[in-house]
Amino acid sequence: MSKIYPIGSGKGGVGKSFIAASLGVLLAKQGKTVVLVDLDLGGSNLHTLLGIKNPKSGIDSFLYKKVKRLEHVAVPTSIPDLFIISSLHCSMEIPNLFYVQKQKIINAIRELPFDYILLDLGSGTNFNTLDFFLTSKEGIFIFTPEPTSIENSFRFIKAAYLRRLKQIIKRHAFTSMVKNAVVGPNNEAIKSPDIIDIVLEHDPDREKFLKDILSEFKFRFIINQFRKNLDAKLGDKIETVCNRHFYSNFEFLGSINYDERVCDAVISKKLFVLKYSYTTSSIELKKIADKITKTEESALLTSRIL
Ligand SMILES: Nc1ncnc2c1ncn2[C@@H]1O[C@H](COP(=O)(O)OP(=O)(O)OP(=O)(O)O)[C@@H](O)[C@H]1O
Ligand SMILES: [Mg+2]
Repeated sequence: MSKIYPIGSGKGGVGKSFIAASLGVLLAKQGKTVVLVDLDLGGSNLHTLLGIKNPKSGIDSFLYKKVKRLEHVAVPTSIPDLFIISSLHCSMEIPNLFYVQKQKIINAIRELPFDYILLDLGSGTNFNTLDFFLTSKEGIFIFTPEPTSIENSFRFIKAAYLRRLKQIIKRHAFTSMVKNAVVGPNNEAIKSPDIIDIVLEHDPDREKFLKDILSEFKFRFIINQFRKNLDAKLGDKIETVCNRHFYSNFEFLGSINYDERVCDAVISKKLFVLKYSYTTSSIELKKIADKITKTEESALLTSRIL
């Protein structure tokens, strides 16, 4: 079965595209089939990181019905088993998608026939980005260790969590009191803890149901551009705080060091994890890719045993 990992962030320029491309390469090197989907519709550049100048087809061909299925616009890269679906030609025309277009893309992504589907998102918390992030139950978010980036990250998590909560309440049988309070008009400013309180007060029988659904979601995160002098326990601390405050699971995947050779690799059109495979940053990225596949394999084993 395909695994979809959306890669998002609260702040721009933290390294989402670099990490998406690197993990794509490393997962493909493990023999998995991987597709990278560039969903940064206004600022698509994933193809450049993979050394592709002008992908011959992309999401626009699918949206405008030139091809029937999204996989038909997946372009091979120089790495065997690694493909890219670019949005280069969408950039000028449709950075702001209509609801039906967004839904068409999300449904098609869920049907892509690859082992791993990595979604490189734009930064921030606009609804399109949040909905792409919520395509799967297991999103990855990236931030750098600066306070501004951490702050925006928390905003991103809260916004994604809130949107998820609202979707659950809208789609399931909660009392009309809860529905009106949470998804009715004039409630834009409602916060996640308030929603849980509203359910507790007006629909106590559904509390367990809500918490069970929320617990199925797993948010993973990576700290990028890490520097030696910083608190080595930062990731673990953030994981603890998030697991205490939300009813979903948070897992810290690892910290990737700042390395000037990342920029050198982009300029020389080489893949950092291949050209500089011996660096601490590449080794950490490999550990993260291994963690992702190991979790997968053990989940598969457990489901077979059960
Ligand atoms: N670990 C790292 N060490 C040094 N430079 C890095 C590292 N990770 C990313 N960079 C650099 O940071 C810049 C931003 O990276 P990238 O484009 O991947 O970020 P992004 O989150 O995708 O940005 P955007 O929000 O604009 O899509 C690039 O110049 C990249 O080379
Ligand atoms: Mg990017």
